[in-house]
Amino acid sequence: MPTLTDLALRQAGLTEADVDWLHMLLSDWQLLADLSFADLVLWAQVRDGSGWLALAQIRPVTAPTAIADDIVGAVHPGGARPFLDVAMEERRICREGDPEWTTGVPVRHETIPVTHEDRVIAVIERSTNLSAARTPSRMDLAYLRAADDLAQMVAAGIFPLPGEQPTLVRSPRVGDGLLRLGRSGRVTYASPNGLSAYRRLGLTADLVGAELGPLTARLSASGGPRDDSLMLTASGRAHMETEVEGNGSVVQLRAIPLVVGGVRSGALILLRDVTELRHRERELITKDATIREIHHRVKNNLQTVAALLRLQARRLKAAEARAALQEAVRRVGSIAIVHETLSHAPDEVVDFDDIAGRVAMMAAEVAAPEARVKPGLSGEFGLLPASVATPLALVLTELLQNALQHGFTRPTGTALGGKLEVTANRLNGQLTVTVTDNGVGLPEDFDVNSTASLGLQIVRTLVVAELGGRLEVSPQPGGGTRVLVEIPVQTATGTPDGGAGPGTPA
Ligand SMILES: Nc1ncnc2c1ncn2[C@@H]1O[C@H](COP(=O)(O)OP(=O)(O)O)[C@@H](O)[C@H]1O
Ligand SMILES: [Mg+2]
Repeated sequence: MPTLTDLALRQAGLTEADVDWLHMLLSDWQLLADLSFADLVLWAQVRDGSGWLALAQIRPVTAPTAIADDIVGAVHPGGARPFLDVAMEERRICREGDPEWTTGVPVRHETIPVTHEDRVIAVIERSTNLSAARTPSRMDLAYLRAADDLAQMVAAGIFPLPGEQPTLVRSPRVGDGLLRLGRSGRVTYASPNGLSAYRRLGLTADLVGAELGPLTARLSASGGPRDDSLMLTASGRAHMETEVEGNGSVVQLRAIPLVVGGVRSGALILLRDVTELRHRERELITKDATIREIHHRVKNNLQTVAALLRLQARRLKAAEARAALQEAVRRVGSIAIVHETLSHAPDEVVDFDDIAGRVAMMAAEVAAPEARVKPGLSGEFGLLPASVATPLALVLTELLQNALQHGFTRPTGTALGGKLEVTANRLNGQLTVTVTDNGVGLPEDFDVNSTASLGLQIVRTLVVAELGGRLEVSPQPGGGTRVLVEIPVQTATGTPDGGAGPGTPA
């Protein structure tokens, strides 16, 4: 379907400024349709004046539609719809005498010229389905009167109201609640939903007859600077939106000052109870804080566990048992590092370069205090989700530990010097990590897939089964060992790096 901009610029020959105005009008015309209980169609003259082109269409949510078909893009030859021409030429709202029956239901048409900078740039056709017509209620009459005021403002070129920012949250609609204010700012009509919203704010007296500005300020729980905009909005003096909080409820207010024939004729106040919405937002915020607090406590608990194991290790005489407990201390410690980072993270995503640095430091300190090797880090891990960060931190801990323990330590226990390098590279949804040492190298009969020792088994399980990646342990040409870990990762936003899917070869 062609867009309004396409149709208006190419086929109707309107200017960019005209189109901007029409866009502003369209962002608000649901209001006019709902108050009118009518369908609206925006017509513009075809460039050569040979007919009328339908630019846009909207149906009321308050009444049955009069136009079941989609008619945007349709063209009527000139003269076929005389009241469109009349609205344009005579610059006035006109109403057809008799209802039309062409579609089987009685439909009454009216036309409203759309004026911008003193020119009529388009015409709104307002079509009411009369088949459901009944004796109008007080509410119907209040709506229709408001619709007529707005229509006159459209014709006079003062609605839509310029300078109005489009709101991010959905503005209140007619059905959410409507108040009509008279010239003095007193309520002359309140829809049942409008009254309910004020009841929820704590109003016990009647709304009709009350001065809305002062009344709303009294009900508002927050005294303070906000009250200026509250007074302006609730008294219907400025076209703006605000929120009132009172009695445990939150109500969104939107004021539309009405000016008819150059004279202020009061205002429409649209209102909507947003208590539940705001409540849920606040819950989400506290939920985030709660998750961070939990990570903090998990970290503390893990540190306690590590401390207990360390204490126990010191009491043991058997060197092997002591070493085993020390390894456990280190493993627990590396998980604690991830939780510590998560306790500061705004969401469940961590900067793994930070974690890698701390894991390397811990490996150098705790694992082999006698080794004279400091691991070097190069490349970038980037942001990783918590579900990847925890296993990867453990993997890195094991690999660094092995290099320090086996690569740079003679069986006699003497420490050797050397180089230990960690590189990280992220490309096309894949993270490649290598841990390379120039130490003594792997034993003769080494096979990573059949090793029964715990460390590499943990590494293999985490890399292959948990992270869905690949593990390679190979001798380094010229002496030493190189371990390669490849895992699929998603970027923080959930899309793979560089657009390729997880596991796609680079
Ligand atoms: N970087 C390395 N340099 C030399 N040998 C290594 C290296 N990494 C692993 N190994 C060898 O692989 C074996 C298995 O390692 P691992 O599963 O971590 O068990 P552990 O460290 O408890 O011995 C080690 O005992 C060692 O012989
Ligand atoms: Mg090991």
